[in-house]
Amino acid sequence: MIGTGYVGLVSGACFADLGNEVTCVDNDIKKINNLKKGIIPIFEPGLEELVIKNYKNGKLNFSTSLKDSVKKSDIIFICVGTPTKKNGISADLTQVYNVAREIRTSISKFKIIITKSTVPLTTGDELEKIISKKKSRKLFSVVSNPEFLREGEAVRDFTFPDRIIIGTNDKKSNKILKNLYAPLISKGAKYINTSRRSAELIKYSSNAFLATKITFINEIANLCEKSDINVEDIAIGMGLDVRIGSRFLRAGPSYGGSCFPKDTKAITNTADKFKINLSVIKSVIKSNQNRPLLLLKRIHSLMKGKLKNKKICFLGVTFKANTDDMRDSPCLKMIPSLIKKGAIINYFDPTGYKKELSKYRNVYFSRDIKSALFNANLIIIHTEWNDFKSINFKSLVKNKNFIIFDFRNIYSASKMKQLKIKYFGIGK
Ligand SMILES: NC(=O)c1ccc[n+]([C@@H]2O[C@H](COP(=O)([O-])OP(=O)(O)OC[C@H]3O[C@@H](n4cnc5c(N)ncnc54)[C@H](O)[C@@H]3O)[C@@H](O)[C@H]2O)c1
Repeated sequence: MIGTGYVGLVSGACFADLGNEVTCVDNDIKKINNLKKGIIPIFEPGLEELVIKNYKNGKLNFSTSLKDSVKKSDIIFICVGTPTKKNGISADLTQVYNVAREIRTSISKFKIIITKSTVPLTTGDELEKIISKKKSRKLFSVVSNPEFLREGEAVRDFTFPDRIIIGTNDKKSNKILKNLYAPLISKGAKYINTSRRSAELIKYSSNAFLATKITFINEIANLCEKSDINVEDIAIGMGLDVRIGSRFLRAGPSYGGSCFPKDTKAITNTADKFKINLSVIKSVIKSNQNRPLLLLKRIHSLMKGKLKNKKICFLGVTFKANTDDMRDSPCLKMIPSLIKKGAIINYFDPTGYKKELSKYRNVYFSRDIKSALFNANLIIIHTEWNDFKSINFKSLVKNKNFIIFDFRNIYSASKMKQLKIKYFGIGK
């Protein structure tokens, strides 16, 4: 596994647990040294046990030497980052191409080289060109095997995937990979063999579709707010239609995280290169970028325009629950604007202090929910952690006139009304 991040470490640990001999490689020396000591770089439920168990029994190893690790491996998964290019919208493939250039010098017998990183359609063709400049095409096969795990549920998602997509026309590689995934196929995962380009596009189309579903219900929520309707009723009514389905129909803040924002942009860029206008996805991106501004407007109106010296408490700051990932978290767009208006932010996150918020004045990390809430004027439930689902606000906040703005619709508005708490949700 080249790249020991959310995808590489989870996949590596899970493949080792299935009985394979796995080396997780990273060029971050500190990360690899820590992993050898049993220190896990990310928060991901169930991962620590899996890593420690398989490191101890020798199935899982860690290394900073890409060349040695490639030499002794038959199957190489590229799991490095593919962020958005600086000042652009396309995927930055520098890390992927750098790995390809390093791999090619270590190939002396047949290797399957797989992109598990999310890469735009035609990247596999490019990798094949790069490697074949130094090695005969008979010595390697480039395959696309996109990963669909979700942060927070990654171990479970890897172990019980809905589908395994293998993009290759090479029969030998397909046979080897079907065998590798056999334990998951026998538990019910669908195994689909497509062309390499199809596999690349399946991943982007899936993420863009899910982002569209979220954005769709967020816009319906805006209409519900203006028309005295509860968006949850709409989501239930729509979701019971099996053609639609209930998942990803929960209104909330904008979608964030390390995948949807970058992948929606990258797919429109790829399509533009083919002179195809993916106008639906372009609208989704625009709507999602605008959403934090809409929520900020609503905060202003809830606070009657008075934010100066007001204490605002954020419960959770990561982009979703059960992860420590801050990439493109909606709060990163909202907090700077709130402090500009003079607000003072206290935040609590179950995964601890966040360096991404350290550069701002008047943003303070609290060690527990109680101190984050103390004397707050406004409480924003930003992330749906279980820790936030049964808080006795009245006893903890201490000040009488606080307002709760629940981005995740965790609490019942009518119960809050009975408690005489000023409570507002999304789309109601
Ligand atoms: N995070 C997710 O939930 C998720 C889900 C599915 C797919 N993906 C895709 O998987 C890819 C990886 O995502 P991630 O979140 O795991 O990224 P990450 O940033 O957590 O991890 C990438 C790792 O690669 C390492 N790396 C970079 N260049 C290297 C090199 N030359 N040699 C060795 N190591 C190198 C980095 O140090 C880092 O540890 C991306 O393309 C992403 O879109 C991510």
